[in-house]
Amino acid sequence: MKDYPHVEEPEMELLKQGYVLKGNWKKEFFKNNNPLVLELGCGMGEYSVGLAEKYLEKNFLGIDIKGARMWQGAIESLEKEMKNVGFLRIRIDWIEMCFAENEVDEIWITFPDPQLKKRRGTKRLIHPEFLKRYASILKKDSPLHLKTDSQFLHGFTLGVIAAAGHILEDSTNDLYNDDTKREHMEIKTHYEQIYLDKGLPITYLKFRLKS
Ligand SMILES: C[S@@+](CC[C@H](N)C(=O)[O-])C[C@H]1O[C@@H](n2cnc3c(N)ncnc32)[C@H](O)[C@@H]1O
Repeated sequence: MKDYPHVEEPEMELLKQGYVLKGNWKKEFFKNNNPLVLELGCGMGEYSVGLAEKYLEKNFLGIDIKGARMWQGAIESLEKEMKNVGFLRIRIDWIEMCFAENEVDEIWITFPDPQLKKRRGTKRLIHPEFLKRYASILKKDSPLHLKTDSQFLHGFTLGVIAAAGHILEDSTNDLYNDDTKREHMEIKTHYEQIYLDKGLPITYLKFRLKS
C-alpha cells in the first residue's frame, strides 16, 4: 500500500516530529472542505467504502493497525477511483498526533473487540481514556456511533455515557428489528455479516460528548 495515494502509514517517529497532515486532511489529502468522518478499527474497510459510496458529500477515513486487512478496502476504492475515501494505518492510541483540534466531524466505531477481561478494559476503544482522545479532535456536538454484537460492550458504553454526562441520542440492542433505523442496516461490515448469518442481534448507539 506504500504507493497508494489514498493510504497513509506514518511511523511513530514521523508523528513525533509533527505530522504534516495533522490539521490538513481535508485540504491536502481529500482536496476539498467536506466533513471528515473516521471509522475506527475499520478492519477490511468495507464500511468506510460503503459509506463513501453512499455519502459523496463527506470524506471517510478508515483507521486500523492491521495493514493486510485494510488493503482490501484500499484496493477496492483505488480500482473504483473513489475520491472521498482513504485509509490511515496507525494505533488508534496515537490519534491525537494525527488530527488537530476540531478537525473531525463524526466517528464510527464498528465491532471493536469487547476486551472482556477486566485487565484489558483500558484497551476498549470506548474506554473513557479513548473518549478523551476523541474529544480533543472532534468538533463540538459531533456524533459518535457504535455498532457491536456484544451486549456487554453496548451496556458498558451506556454506563460510560451516563457516568460522564455525555448525551445519548439513539440506542437499540437489536438494530435489525427496528424499522426506524433502516439507514444503519444498508451497509454491513465483515464482522456484522458474520454475526447476522449466525442470527445474533446487532446493537447500535449514537451519542455526543459533553463539552
Ligand atoms: C473485530 S475487528 C472489526 C473489524 C471491522 N470493523 C468489522 O466490523 O469487520 C476489530 C479491529 O479493530 C482493530 N483495532 C483494535 N484496537 C486497535 C487499536 N488500538 N488501534 C488500531 N486498530 C485497532 C483491529 O486491528 C481489528 O481490525
